[in-house]
Amino acid sequence: MPILDIVTFPDKSLSEPSEKITTFDDALKTLIADMAETMFEAPGAGLAAVQAGVSKRLIVVNTTIDHENEAEEERSYMALINPEIVEADGEFISEDEGCLSVPEFRATVKRFNRVKVTAQDADGNPLELNEEGFPAVVLQHEIDHLNGILFIHRISSLKREMYKRKVKKWMKGQGR
Ligand code: NI
Repeated sequence: MPILDIVTFPDKSLSEPSEKITTFDDALKTLIADMAETMFEAPGAGLAAVQAGVSKRLIVVNTTIDHENEAEEERSYMALINPEIVEADGEFISEDEGCLSVPEFRATVKRFNRVKVTAQDADGNPLELNEEGFPAVVLQHEIDHLNGILFIHRISSLKREMYKRKVKKWMKGQGR
């Protein structure tokens, strides 16, 4: 399965909302498998389709169980299609949050502590998830991507501007 290229900030596609998925075919299943492979390879806690250049409402989340012995690691993931947060409460300070599309930057983000999410699976069947703490943060982060929101839009503008300047410098350095 191919590893997909990850789109990074400031690519415009990352700030645009993704389209609803209405066709549940083999191409969708292939995309899900490739996205999961890409997420494991990165490695990341989750990945939204828009980060792989596909502007559709699909996310994968890493549910790998880490055993004490690394060799026993069991890779697993979940794909959520057209996910929506239908309930959210509490507060969770997500320290050191990062994103594969925002390289070399981490920040503290204020998130909800608990979310209820409805979605569809790869065959279009309805799904419902209730998560708390870190898994709830991953869902909020990935669903944000589908709405064109990056975690740097949820931090102070001062910190965001610092990061933007850093990116501009890199791009100049690379002659872009
Ligand atoms: Ni992200």
